[in-house]
Amino acid sequence: MLLPSLCALDADGLLDPAIEIIGTARSELDDQGFRNFAREALEQFLPANRRGSMATFLNRLSYQTLDANDIGGFQALAAKVGTPKEGLSIFLSTAPSLFEPTIRGLQQSGLAGENVRIGLEKPLGVDLESSKVINDAVAAAFPEDRIFRIDHYLGKETVQNLLALRFANLMFEPLWNAAHIDHVQITVAETVGLESRVAYYDDSGALRDMVQNHMLQLLALVAMEPPVSYDATNVRDEKVKILRSLRKVKVKETVTGQYRAGAIGGEAVPGYDDELGKDSDTETFVAIKAYIDNWRWQGVPFYLRTGKRLPRRTTEIVVQFRNVPHAIFPGRSAKMVSNRLVIGIQPSENITLSLMAKVPGLDRDGIGLRSIPLEISMADAFAGPQRRIAYERLLLDLIEGDQTLFVRRDEVEAQWEWIDAIRAGWEEHQLEPKTYTAGSWGPSAAIALAERDGVTWHE
Ligand code: BG6
Repeated sequence: MLLPSLCALDADGLLDPAIEIIGTARSELDDQGFRNFAREALEQFLPANRRGSMATFLNRLSYQTLDANDIGGFQALAAKVGTPKEGLSIFLSTAPSLFEPTIRGLQQSGLAGENVRIGLEKPLGVDLESSKVINDAVAAAFPEDRIFRIDHYLGKETVQNLLALRFANLMFEPLWNAAHIDHVQITVAETVGLESRVAYYDDSGALRDMVQNHMLQLLALVAMEPPVSYDATNVRDEKVKILRSLRKVKVKETVTGQYRAGAIGGEAVPGYDDELGKDSDTETFVAIKAYIDNWRWQGVPFYLRTGKRLPRRTTEIVVQFRNVPHAIFPGRSAKMVSNRLVIGIQPSENITLSLMAKVPGLDRDGIGLRSIPLEISMADAFAGPQRRIAYERLLLDLIEGDQTLFVRRDEVEAQWEWIDAIRAGWEEHQLEPKTYTAGSWGPSAAIALAERDGVTWHE
């Protein structure tokens, strides 16, 4: 995602010609080796019409071998960096245990000075305590206004569109509360399994991999109060209030699952244990009934679910409105369907509002009613503008110093606090994930979690 995004920005003339990009990792590569690696990746992951002049982009690249525990690599890197006139942006994508030594190395080699911004890719720890250790280490070298914690969901156009939908339209906000909304569903379903991330994923599981970050950010954007203005402080102030208002979840309000062999899109796929090559009790699916304890959302359940090897890749938010207070159409109440707003985040970018309408005809026994969709396809509405990779937005903002779409320390810590309490409950009850067949919508208990409240997951 990183090199393709930078290349796409370059192709569109959004990178200053003076910008140089230095890759670092443990691998022993020279500049040419890194460029070859980059070329292959670009050809694989970036459509040809977005690559621009690849040669120009590749010429910006160089490479420095670096081991987080060896100061020599940092010193060589510092020599390579020199003193860039327009400042330096560092982007760390590494294992949680390597943040601390890496930051120390940067500091000791003079790479953490004025004019330096640092981007941090998750996982930023595995729980509140370890995330504090990382945050403290970073804070010792960089002030908060130069720390850019990435949640790539915030870079997605459709996620930013949530804010546009809520706060650039008058019609939703008066209804956006417990008086009018029955419940909210947030689904992030994936068809992929472990991919090549065996060690990371098995240590993490769905709760920490997806809920702690992406899903809680989506929830915060759906639930937050209108910010004073669209800027880093005001938007993040409102998000953190929601994260702090999350009620502690009871174990019986969660369901965990792990996929077994099945089929997706007609293709057979192995079970999690088979992919992993050993038994494991890591959850690949989680469903949670969450509540936000504030005035706006009192008593409104937020049903969250995410999983690997589900039937379709889809991320969507469903806002289910309440019934009309009084049915005026005699004999028709059975057919009344409450309004529902479905916001498709990916892959389809659709906004669908279901409305009740009169079925045309000369009914003798009153007005015939049916729920019909009012549907907007973002792809049709905005056929012109190029769809961007989430990291294009985020890397550009990192380079330009705009923190609005990055996660502040207090947000990350509030997220971990809520997640840690869920995990503590699971441990106390020795909860083992239920099995589900790959290609299904998770364990049947997840369906029951919603059905107990008379709610059906939107599919
Ligand atoms: C990552 C998770 O943060 O997000 C992955 O670590 C997951 O497990 C990915 O597959 C999903 O991102 P996207 O953009 O494909 O929805």
